[in-house]
Order: sequence, then C-alpha cells, then structure tokens
Amino acid sequence: MSKAEKKIREFTDHTFGTWNRQKAWSTPLLIKDAEGVYMYDDKGKSYMDFSSQLMCSNLGHKNKIIIEAIKQQAEKLPYIAPGFANEASLAAVDALRSVMPEGLNKFFFSTSGTEANEAALKMVRLSKIPAYKIISRYHSYHGATVAGAAFTGDPRRWFAEQARCTVQGVRFAPDCYCYRCPFGKEYPECNIQCATYLDYMIKEEGNVAAIIVEPVVGTNGRLVPPPEYFPILRKICDETDVLLVADEVMTGWFRTGKAFAMEHWNVTPDILTTAKGATGAYTPAGITAATDKVAGFFDEEVFCHGHTYAFHPIAMCAIPAAVSEYKKLVASGLPEKSAGHLEKKLYELADRHECIGDVRGIGHFWALEIVKNRKTREPFNVKADKFSGVPLMTAKIAGDAMKNGLYMAAWIDTLVIAPPLIITEQEIDQGIAVIDKALEIGDREVESTGIPASRSSDFTRA
Ligand SMILES: Cc1ncc(COP(=O)(O)O)c(C=O)c1O
Repeated sequence: MSKAEKKIREFTDHTFGTWNRQKAWSTPLLIKDAEGVYMYDDKGKSYMDFSSQLMCSNLGHKNKIIIEAIKQQAEKLPYIAPGFANEASLAAVDALRSVMPEGLNKFFFSTSGTEANEAALKMVRLSKIPAYKIISRYHSYHGATVAGAAFTGDPRRWFAEQARCTVQGVRFAPDCYCYRCPFGKEYPECNIQCATYLDYMIKEEGNVAAIIVEPVVGTNGRLVPPPEYFPILRKICDETDVLLVADEVMTGWFRTGKAFAMEHWNVTPDILTTAKGATGAYTPAGITAATDKVAGFFDEEVFCHGHTYAFHPIAMCAIPAAVSEYKKLVASGLPEKSAGHLEKKLYELADRHECIGDVRGIGHFWALEIVKNRKTREPFNVKADKFSGVPLMTAKIAGDAMKNGLYMAAWIDTLVIAPPLIITEQEIDQGIAVIDKALEIGDREVESTGIPASRSSDFTRA
C-alpha cells in the first residue's frame, strides 16, 4: 500500500461513509482538483463530470465569481446568529425573488435539501392541524433525516422504518412512471389515472395535509410527467384543501431548462423546496419557499423552527452570485443548445445499445433505463438489490466509464445523465463516446429482441 493509500485508509477507518456498509468505504478516489466539467484525482487523471456530482454542480467547478463572493464574505462576516439580519441574506432574498415562480414570496434558509423539506413539513403540519397526513410517491427521495426518510419512497426508507426512524402519517401514491405504469395503462388513453387517483386517495384517507412531489423524479428515474399531470394535481389539491409541496432540490436551477421545473406546467406549488444548484453547490444552502397563503398563517402563530446555521452568511452569499451566473449562462443560449444535442446523442445511443430500455428526461436531466429484455422490460436488478450486495448492472457500466475517465452516477436500473449546464457540445460528444463503450457490458447480457428502445420523453414532454 502506498503512503497516499494508507492515508486514505486511515481516513475511512475513522469516518462513516454515506449509504454504505462500512467495509465498502475503504478506498474512495482522492479528488484533488476540479475545473469546468472535469475533476482530477491525486495522480492527475481527469474525469468528466457527467452527473454534476450529485446533480448539484450545475455551474461546473471553479466558478470564479462565486468563489470570489465566498472569499469576500469570509473576510467580512463569516457568521452571525440567525436572529440578526446580514447583508448576504438581504442579497440572497433579492436574487431569489428575481427567479422564483410568482407567488412564492417568503423563504426559510437552512443548509441542505433535507432540512428544506423538514421545514416544509413543519409549515404543513403546524398550519394544517388537525390534518397531518402527507402523501408521497414510491419513486422518490426527499431526504436523509427521520422525516425526510419517512416520505422517501425508495429503499432508503426501508432501513429507516426497520430502525423505527420514521414519522407517522405518510401514505404513498402511485407513481407517474409511463414506462412501467402502475395501472398497466398507456398515455394518453390512461386519462392520467396516476393523477386522478389522488383525488380518491385524499378523500378516502381523510386528514391529508399535503402532497409532496418531485416535479421530475430525480434519483429514482428522471420521470417526466405528461403535460396534464400537474394541472390535474393542482386542481385536486385546491378542491380538497391539501397543500402541494414541490421538492425542487434536484430539478431547480435550470436543470430541466427552466429556473424551476414546475414552470413547465405553469403550476405554482404552495411550498417549494430547493437546495443543491441554489449555490451551484459551492456552499451548503437549503431553501423553503412559501406562498402568502401558507406564510400568512404564521403571522400570528409561532413558526417553531430554526437552526444555528439558518441564514448562514457564507452559505447565503453564494446564492446571489450563482443567480447572476445562471442568468448570464441562460442568456448565452448554451444550455438550451447543449440540452438538444445531449438528447439527440442519447437517442442515438439507444439505437446502438439493446440494453437501453427507455430514454427519458428534459434539459440536462436524463435517464437511460437499463433492461435485460426490451420486449418484456425485465430489468437486470430490482430495488432490493441496491443494498443486498447483488452487483448492479448500472454500477458495472458506470464503473467502466469511470475507468475510462467519465464520472456518471447510477441508481438501481438507471444511469444518471446530468452534466453541468456549462458543458459544450464537443464535451458531450467526448462523454457520450465513453458511455457508448461502457454500454457494451450491458449489451453482452441482454436477451436480444430486435425492437427499438422506448422514448418516454417523446410523449410525456410538456
Ligand atoms: C429531490 C431531493 N430532495 C431532497 C434531497 C436531499 O437533499 P440533501 O442531500 O441536500 O439533504 C435530495 C438529494 O439528493 C433530492 O434529490
């Protein structure tokens, strides 16, 4: 073992790695530097970042404007208690108001997406007494804490439940997953049953306070809903007096082409949570935004919530810097152009690789769903495999790409294609060439059917 490897081993021996058996947390890659759409390990090898780390480094690495804002804030006022106002927070609120969907006027600031959702839960439950139930969906992730895990649908909830680390009163609704419709139907003959069923569910359950949804499901599939889905959901929520919470932790910040994904359907949620791209991931910030209707309740009632690091000046100062960088980038036209190019290239991959069952996404937010059989849509892996130690086909493909200089996240049966919004068409071509080769691993194990891949985004796009 080299000296450097020993040092890493010492580090992992003394830390808890995330979401893993600790035996598997032994030799993470040591990343020394990152710039633009690349990161570099300690041996100087470069890796193209095709997932924006955890779908958060939307502006790429080493953005000078944001770094400068952080430096200046660190020298001026690195911390002050949240009971005081600070200039970084004033500027952050101004910046947010310039990009938030109309109607979302009041903000709470924390330091992560999980905390943003925790604050949303408190807003919902404090303001909706006696209603308390939250409806979520199986294909979802909303956070790591006890409440966040409770309304998460994916297998990370199973662990939390087994350990009784959960909150009561969460119900799960059918997913809006056209490739594997839970009702066995096809769009548009389905009449968007996944949305209309919510009305039945709310009325039969009783005491429902809110529905929490990722506008485009992130980690759990990049599921783009049909254009009718959110207008139907909004109507149901209005008619049944249930709050609509949009978790835009991953879909916010131009990831899907708009500042916030709900804008694709002209639907305003009652509460919008976001984090990740809010600062381009240069500082940790979580934002819970509420409409006047929700916020007004707390004018005379206690908003019984807070953190030592709420409104943390260093976290906050990156928000206005990031907002101005996003505006410049969008005005340049680059993200719109590169998103179209990316889509085309992904469709071409599906024409070449039979292990791709479905291609779907929007903007810079795409999934390649990997299957063993295109006809039956049989997957290589099931949800339970994620933590059981069974090797995942997607992990094998992503592992091969990594060896060849491309970092790409994978989750159960999908590859996460979500590069920084600054990526150029030429860089996309380079990345796609690596993925093209890595997909041969999947092709070697497919049952050949000769039928084309499905393109869910073709019929679900707003
Ligand atoms: C949709 C969504 N909500 C919440 C979270 C939790 O955010 P964080 O990891 O910043 O706590 C995530 C993280 O990936 C997410 O994708």
